[in-house]
Amino acid sequence: MLFSSFKIRELELKNRWIMLALHTGYAQGNAISEREFAFYEERAKGGAAAITLVLSVNEAGSLKGMHQAKSLALESLKELADRLHQYGCKLIVQLFHCGRNDSKKDHGEKPLFAPSAVASVIYKAEPVEMDREELGRTKEDFALAGEFCKKAGVDAIEISASAGYLLSEFLSPITNLRKDSYGYENNGGMEYPLEVIRFVRERVGDFPVLLKVSGAQMVDGGYGLEDTVSFCRLAEEYIDCVTVTGGWHESPVEQISYHVAKGAYAPFAGVLKKYIALPVIACNRIHDGETAERLLAENQCDFVGTARAFLADPQFANRVENKERFLPCQGCNRCITRVLKGEEVICGFNPEAGNEYYEKQRRKIATRKEVVVVGGGPAGMEAAKKSADRGFMTTLITEEKVLGGQLNLAAKPPKKEAMSEYIAYMEETLKNLGVTMILGEKCSEEFLLGKKPYFTVIATGSEPVLPKIEGAEKGVFASDVLSGKVSLPPQSAEGQIVIIGGGLVGLETAAYIKKIDEERKIKIVESQAAFGKGMGALSRPLISSLRAKGVQFMAETNVEGLEDGKALISIGGQKFFLQADAILLATGAQPSEYGYLTMPLMDERLSYALVGDAEKIGDGADAIHSAYELFTRVYLA
Ligand SMILES: Cc1cc2nc3c(=O)[nH]c(=O)nc-3n(C[C@H](O)[C@H](O)[C@H](O)COP(=O)(O)O)c2cc1C
Ligand code: SF4
Repeated sequence: MLFSSFKIRELELKNRWIMLALHTGYAQGNAISEREFAFYEERAKGGAAAITLVLSVNEAGSLKGMHQAKSLALESLKELADRLHQYGCKLIVQLFHCGRNDSKKDHGEKPLFAPSAVASVIYKAEPVEMDREELGRTKEDFALAGEFCKKAGVDAIEISASAGYLLSEFLSPITNLRKDSYGYENNGGMEYPLEVIRFVRERVGDFPVLLKVSGAQMVDGGYGLEDTVSFCRLAEEYIDCVTVTGGWHESPVEQISYHVAKGAYAPFAGVLKKYIALPVIACNRIHDGETAERLLAENQCDFVGTARAFLADPQFANRVENKERFLPCQGCNRCITRVLKGEEVICGFNPEAGNEYYEKQRRKIATRKEVVVVGGGPAGMEAAKKSADRGFMTTLITEEKVLGGQLNLAAKPPKKEAMSEYIAYMEETLKNLGVTMILGEKCSEEFLLGKKPYFTVIATGSEPVLPKIEGAEKGVFASDVLSGKVSLPPQSAEGQIVIIGGGLVGLETAAYIKKIDEERKIKIVESQAAFGKGMGALSRPLISSLRAKGVQFMAETNVEGLEDGKALISIGGQKFFLQADAILLATGAQPSEYGYLTMPLMDERLSYALVGDAEKIGDGADAIHSAYELFTRVYLA
């Protein structure tokens, strides 16, 4: 069913995959840039039936790096539509107004407008309550934007009323405290959004109009699915399709990270489908063909929407159709985290996202010059990929027997299976690009000097460090437990697993241990006040799931020393012993030794560069980007 056509009003879409609204932050000036054209064109080529571009309806509703319908050149929007149409892909434009959802700084210190002066819990900036004049102007701007899109040859428009942006703010008793007819007390705050929808319909006439809603607000005291159903039923006669996402950005319930099960929010769309006679688009973590087919077969939706599956792999839809491997979205949320901070979107695992135009400019050199990449982790794999892609004869050598390096450990905790799929995708890509892979062999000086490569990439990664505490050697590296090199002793009556370090490695090791042994007693000890440092929004769901499984967290706790079977800790000057069956060290990493390679290369005046953890300790996405950047900076012609 996934690859059969279906209609929204009279608009026929060639399959059921719709690339959803994805604010990129790439917009500059009043025209769509070549960079943006290339970004969308690649995804149209990649099989999307339709692609959604986000346009703000006016300046007050715009985010940094977003085009505004009022100032965008019509010709440029027309060109985007034409370019997508070449590939049988339709262009949907989302009419967007951020409401209160932006930071003061990114909003250029200009006022944010909302139904009431209630600050967002994310951005904290207090918005201005919209008066009748502002409400009228904004409604007119939605209609003008719709007319503009129709004139430009866009195929459909989508009115944004989800995730905590302007129109959804009217629907919530938390954000709509108005006492006038647009207040929540009157018909659940639906009056203004409905007025906007009706007004847009009047002005665009016979033209496909979509509405994007959150299934529920998913914030305590907020609106629920029943309210969304009522709203959509009232809007039904003015719209042609509904896109149904999960909750709001500020919801404490996970929305799109890997903690959310595949297609977990599709039942919202399924319920809505029972109450309205319009096509429905389901979304959130629908990132593979099986999930999509299942949801369509279950009649939960008529279309499947995804923003990130297409960000991670522009060829996504074609690859699903042809049953080929694709680069799977990891649900790591690096993309959305950046956008919410007012930065340009990137994909942690696909560094070409947003660089498609520049990629086209970069010359592919047919050369017999050799590049050697030492290391098969994320940085090594990406470096080998880019090197071969640029046309170099590329050899990747690693002492590990398999590719992936530390990503193999990152794949171990629950719900991280997509990491193994990424490694498999990269392996296949490297094979297809003709990279010579030498696995299970440590790169030696003789190997390098025998080859005298044109360029060497040192991607030798990192190793864990022993903390500077007495008896540190009594501990075991957490990574050795994840890799299976060390097995845990049985649970004793008094004992427990003590993990020192509450960052990414410590938390993920705890999750892994709980996955293999639910009954294990685990304590995580962290010297700082917060756990999950550097993990951004991903730490919250991981910490709560660990707490739910009985893992104990000890913050602001110093470890003074380790002895056999116990750790001496101090909290606020008080010292205690923690009985331990095993003490796991998750206390950071340092670059692995690489001097034995770089010294001889220097002696022979052979060029090389460090990437990934060898250059700077970071996570997998940092490593991938550092390798990619190398092949954009250094021209090896
Ligand atoms: C970087 C990023 C930017 C987004 N920007 C918008 C936006 O401007 N408007 C909107 O309605 N949704 C936006 N979304 C939400 C997506 O359209 C989609 O509803 C959500 O990501 C769930 O789908 P997915 O799991 O396939 O990514 C954005 C999502 C991401 C990841
Ligand atoms: S950054 Fe992470 S979540 Fe976003 S598209 Fe890429 S892999 Fe998916």
